[in-house]
Amino acid sequence: MVSDKKVRIAVLVSGGGTNLQALIDSQKSGVIKSGEIVLVLSNKADAYSLERARNAGIPAVAVTKAEFGADFENKIIKTLEENNIDLIVLAGFMCILSKDFTDRYKNRIINIHPSLIPAFCGEGFYGLRVHRAALEKGVKVSGATVHFVNEIPDGGEIIMQKAVEVMEGDTPETLSARILENAEWKILPLSTELVCEKILNNQI
Ligand code: GRF
Repeated sequence: MVSDKKVRIAVLVSGGGTNLQALIDSQKSGVIKSGEIVLVLSNKADAYSLERARNAGIPAVAVTKAEFGADFENKIIKTLEENNIDLIVLAGFMCILSKDFTDRYKNRIINIHPSLIPAFCGEGFYGLRVHRAALEKGVKVSGATVHFVNEIPDGGEIIMQKAVEVMEGDTPETLSARILENAEWKILPLSTELVCEKILNNQI
């Protein structure tokens, strides 16, 4: 399954892809050394992430619900299989995957969520909504979590977390930006390397 002693990684995205960029940069700098990003897959045809991937020489494809309808997940699986993918990294992928899908890839899908799980997570907590809820609650600390993906949204085993201070006067946008820069862009590459090492060592 694992070829060339590197875990073959697919990054699934929907948007701008700053987390994808952090992964690409971490691969270049050697933080990610046990795996290699060999595919970027977006469910949005116009996602800037696709351009980031191509700029880095990584094959990038769009698989959209508009094009594939009920076959959306099947098409994703087919694409992953054709590329011999060992590990799926969800980096701002705005679709909830079915139980069939997550069962098929047990311990082989990780996700970044922009809060300290179990706070502000689960269905409906995505994008700026997460940060809006945190600010409404008045928390003084938020952050990011990388976790394995199972059938429960944001419910899989936690791999890594990093806390970030909430500042007086924060808006969802300023809090989101601080969490991206200080937590997400750091723990997603570190977690990816950790999980790749474990796969190579047959620990998961
Ligand atoms: C990030 O905040 C991530 O945690 C969330 O979606 C956002 C994606 O940002 N799931 P980007 O596309 O990586 O810039």
